[in-house]
Amino acid sequence: MLKKGQNILITGASSGIGQALAVHYARNGAKNLFICGRNADRLNETRVLCQKFGTNVHAAIIDVTDRELVRNWLNECEKIADINLIIANAGVSSVTETPENIRNTFNTNVFGVINTVLPAIDIYKARRERLLGQKDNANSSLDQFIARTKAKKKAFFRNPFSRKYLGDIGCELYKNDNKSIAIVSSIAGYHGLPACPSYSASKACVKAWGAALRGQLKPFGINVSVICPGFVKSRITDQNTCPMPFFMPADKAAAIIAARLEKNVGLIAFPWPLRFAAWLVSILPERLSGLIYNRLPEKVSDKS
Ligand SMILES: NC(=O)c1ccc[n+]([C@@H]2O[C@H](COP(=O)([O-])OP(=O)(O)OC[C@H]3O[C@@H](n4cnc5c(N)ncnc54)[C@H](OP(=O)(O)O)[C@@H]3O)[C@@H](O)[C@H]2O)c1
Repeated sequence: MLKKGQNILITGASSGIGQALAVHYARNGAKNLFICGRNADRLNETRVLCQKFGTNVHAAIIDVTDRELVRNWLNECEKIADINLIIANAGVSSVTETPENIRNTFNTNVFGVINTVLPAIDIYKARRERLLGQKDNANSSLDQFIARTKAKKKAFFRNPFSRKYLGDIGCELYKNDNKSIAIVSSIAGYHGLPACPSYSASKACVKAWGAALRGQLKPFGINVSVICPGFVKSRITDQNTCPMPFFMPADKAAAIIAARLEKNVGLIAFPWPLRFAAWLVSILPERLSGLIYNRLPEKVSDKS
């Protein structure tokens, strides 16, 4: 789905997974990269790494918890180039669950994602309307188009052998206009974890939201994917002292994410053994899952 020469926006690209994704896309021919973070030195490091591949890098110091700032930034980026992929990656994880840390975790991991995704949807919908206005016949509004597509889909299910439905479902008008949103959740989002209650809850929230948005935005030609990594080398995992099974370097994680985004996979959860274990425990009766989760070690042990 994402070809060379695309324009990609990544929040939280100053380190870890976000930085690795930026470098990956730069290496693979992204035309414009829009990146943000709060730390100027680290963000600049990402900018320099990406520019080596000839990509136009637009770096901005943005705190994703600032709703208006994020919206304005996205709108400014869209003015420079039509964005094809928006990755809401910025996130935090705290070692201790103080009231302040809990609020900061939800503000960044949930509202930071909302602050990024809502303007992304508006931008994509506006572009779709613009393209429809340009290429479809003069009286084709977005609502009429959706109604027509739905009617043709219904017709298809009544008579799958009819070829009438093909025109609109194929969405020829903007087939080449990629519009994707990726939300970075976590394997920790499969269940509330006693070792990190607010972090796992924040990730569960955006995981569910992203899954729902995928269905809701499909008729608008917007692809939504939720990314649930396991343990990846980053400033977050650098704090951990607990065992981290299947720990992987950030560039490997970025390659996996990019490959699956390209195939428009809805739930990108990896590595598979962790994904399977998290899913299995999440469907167990609470007494059993509680027994397992309560035995998991603290992320950062007091004894370390
Ligand atoms: N590493 C893992 O094992 C793992 C596993 C599952 C999910 N994740 C998720 O992956 C995402 C990236 O985390 P990471 O592991 O790569 O950790 P990281 O190295 O700490 O990267 C986090 C990024 O988010 C940015 N950020 C944090 N708060 C921000 C804010 N308020 N406004 C703007 N940017 C902000 C940071 O930039 P500044 O420091 O410059 O502000 C940094 O670039 C997070 O959502 C995390 O929850 C990570």
